[in-house]
Amino acid sequence: MPEVIVCMGCCCPQNGGAELLQELSKIQQEEHIAKQKETSQFPEQKRNSIQLFTSGCVGPCEKAPNVIIEGVLHSEVQIQEIRTLLRLQAESPSEPR
Ligand code: FES
Repeated sequence: MPEVIVCMGCCCPQNGGAELLQELSKIQQEEHIAKQKETSQFPEQKRNSIQLFTSGCVGPCEKAPNVIIEGVLHSEVQIQEIRTLLRLQAESPSEPR
């Protein structure tokens, strides 16, 4: 799972960013539990958990909420689409920075 930065500036939290952060935190916990199960059953198997961070204003407040996934800015992100965005990112990882 990728590095995810949720904008917690002035506008994003009030426009869905706080809920996105909660959902991402939930996803992170699910990944952690899944990883624990996998490593206890298949110790050689590795699973990358989501790395979740918050930031100050990232710029386009008018398009809140904003989330950066692996360095790519996603604006007006709906809570229903965050899992899809993460899955798509995992399927096509970006070039190393
Ligand atoms: S507060 Fe999120 S882009 Fe400005």
